[in-house]
Amino acid sequence: MSFDYPSGKLNMLAKCPSGLEGVLASELEMLGGENISILNRAVAFEGDKRLLYAANYHCRTALRILVPIKQFSILTEQDLYTAVKSVKWEDYFSADQTFAFDSTVNQSVFTHSHYVSQRAKDAIADRFREKTGKRPSVDTENPDFKINIHLSRNELNLSFDSSGDSLHKRGYHISNAEAPLSEVLAAGMILLSGWDGRSTFMDPMCGSGTLLTEAAMIAMNLPAGYFRQEFGFMRWKDFNKPLWEDVLDESLEEQTDIEAEILGSDMSAQNLRSAEANLKQARLHKDVRLSVSKFQDVVPPEGPGTLVTNPPYGERIQVDDIIELYRDLGNVLKRRFSGYKAWVISSDLRAVKMIGLKPMKKHVLFNGPLECRFVGFDLYDGSRRGGNRDQDNL
Ligand SMILES: C[S@@+](CC[C@H](N)C(=O)[O-])C[C@H]1O[C@@H](n2cnc3c(N)ncnc32)[C@H](O)[C@@H]1O
Repeated sequence: MSFDYPSGKLNMLAKCPSGLEGVLASELEMLGGENISILNRAVAFEGDKRLLYAANYHCRTALRILVPIKQFSILTEQDLYTAVKSVKWEDYFSADQTFAFDSTVNQSVFTHSHYVSQRAKDAIADRFREKTGKRPSVDTENPDFKINIHLSRNELNLSFDSSGDSLHKRGYHISNAEAPLSEVLAAGMILLSGWDGRSTFMDPMCGSGTLLTEAAMIAMNLPAGYFRQEFGFMRWKDFNKPLWEDVLDESLEEQTDIEAEILGSDMSAQNLRSAEANLKQARLHKDVRLSVSKFQDVVPPEGPGTLVTNPPYGERIQVDDIIELYRDLGNVLKRRFSGYKAWVISSDLRAVKMIGLKPMKKHVLFNGPLECRFVGFDLYDGSRRGGNRDQDNL
């Protein structure tokens, strides 16, 4: 199989959660991506096959890396069938392999993505039968070849999904506490916070430790996909194993020891056991210090440092007095965290205002379906006097 690009360059599309497009674009630029452009919940870029492998392995804020293969204008169901059937699928996977679709439909004549997948499946099966006498089967659980269908109004985009399983599945998360963050969102928050990877990092409401694990991986230059066994491209006909091994070898040379002190605490001993299990799975348990404690009792090391935390919002976790919790958080930050930058994500804007500090920066991020603000505070000496003048703009 070969992708039909005259210059040997692939057009690629990295998908990400809303609000992380800029961070992802920087990650891709660092990896050598060219012609990068920021879209809505995606970043388009160009590069070679090595970059395709590297983007899957390294990007902390990408959910999947797609290779757009063809675009069509379609009006009818027959157009959809004909368009999908016109692709030389047999060049990309064999009748002995399984395939599956990931379909999204936007303001189109087709209202159900399931229906679009069904017609596309018929088209592929019919083409294989005509060309090879055999047809591949669909396997929605563990397909060899994943095809992304994006239908927006009349525009049909077909892409190969080079990631397979979503890239937030890093391979270390074995134990859940309440309301864990997605690994991709956690990494994005740390990268947005501007933490340098060397000074102190803290999460005083760490739950299952997603922020801590991602922070430790960042501090070590450990690739986001380090613990993953598989990526979709490994089952492609054109998988270049030596090139992939080269990407792995190169990243080994860049890994370093952790200089930073990384500290996590939570008032729930049970949640902390989850954090410990996840860190152990990632073999990072010796690099992160955990303790059972209310954040109200935490005494941090002297700054500089960065605190990033995901407190309860009162949505998925009920807390008796959410307002009191955020007011306490504000007081603790003001009293004990001078020299730190503190970042808090929450969907409860009323509660965030109770922190009572003037934000230096804020981003709109989504934690699952919940629209959140990710708010940063600069706790320079005298921040108490910073007041809360800007609180209304959250
Ligand atoms: C939304 S969860 C954090 C989830 C975490 N980011 C993860 O990925 O698993 C909020 C956590 O705050 C903890 N918590 C609530 N109130 C606390 C307090 N006063 N002190 C310390 N931890 C607290 C809860 O036990 C819970 O684990």
